[in-house]
Amino acid sequence: MAKRIILDCDPGHDDAVAILLALASTDELEVLGLTVVGGNVPLHSTLLNARKVVTLAQRECKVFAGCPRPMMRDIVTAEHVHGETGLDSGSGTPLGEPTVPVESTHAVNFIVETVRAEPENSVTLVAIGPLTNIAVAFAMAPDIIPRMHELVIMGGAGFEPGNITPAAEFNIYVDPQAARAVFDSGVNLIMFGLDITHQMLITPPRLEAVNRDGGRVGTVVADLLDFFNQYDISKYGWEGAPLHDPCTIAYLIEPAIFEMRKMHVVVDTTDGPSLGRTVTDWWGATQEKPNAMVATGGNADRFFGLITERLKLL
Ligand code: BDR
Ligand code: CA
Repeated sequence: MAKRIILDCDPGHDDAVAILLALASTDELEVLGLTVVGGNVPLHSTLLNARKVVTLAQRECKVFAGCPRPMMRDIVTAEHVHGETGLDSGSGTPLGEPTVPVESTHAVNFIVETVRAEPENSVTLVAIGPLTNIAVAFAMAPDIIPRMHELVIMGGAGFEPGNITPAAEFNIYVDPQAARAVFDSGVNLIMFGLDITHQMLITPPRLEAVNRDGGRVGTVVADLLDFFNQYDISKYGWEGAPLHDPCTIAYLIEPAIFEMRKMHVVVDTTDGPSLGRTVTDWWGATQEKPNAMVATGGNADRFFGLITERLKLL
């Protein structure tokens, strides 16, 4: 039976690929809705982008607007990575205008109502932006925490340096208080941080394969990733940008792609240079009970192969 997921996102190029991968994979996943948060760009743009991506997929999927800003801090955005629109393309061609509306229900209410309405242990939450919507949902309705099957996130950096500060990964840094609340909540948590996503590089042959073999949507995605590659290649000097967010969806479709290890993770919320760091206890030095399954390795060729195959189905 297909896993039923709610995908919380802030598109964003890699969010867009994650959404498309999920919508294409109907045998394994049923997307109950996209809940959108401010992150890579402000909420009005992430919302527009989410609707454009669903329109591109030509699949039915409801889109819900969530929180425009973090719980306690001003929002930090990433136009330097994703462009002014959040989904700039290499060719300059924008995605087509959306035909999908914004639902009237708030994203947080949708998450709470859905997890309560569906059978216990049947809904998986996937979060690939700042964790604001998730933390607010948990604060509003703690009963949903043990009801959900699991929460799979892209966020954090256990052993890698940060990408927005030397210590912190972007999604955690934008709303560290929300992240702290989520990591401390007791939810069944699966973490795809920079440790794994920095192994998933959009190299020229992989980009070419998406363009050549990914069908109608693959061509559009390759154009988007062409833009996305530019900033990270100049920043890191790698062969391509890391394709972060689709790791979460690939894990739900084909978990054997990844190596995982259970450990204790705590988010640093103290003001200072480590704000937003996910302090990850590989060796069990603290005696704290492990609270997250952390991705440590993976098969990058298979990951990109899966994405290309699935994009072609749209
Ligand atoms: C994360 O930050 C965003 O820019 C990406 O969409 C991804 O979710 C990577 O640090
Ligand atoms: Ca994202």
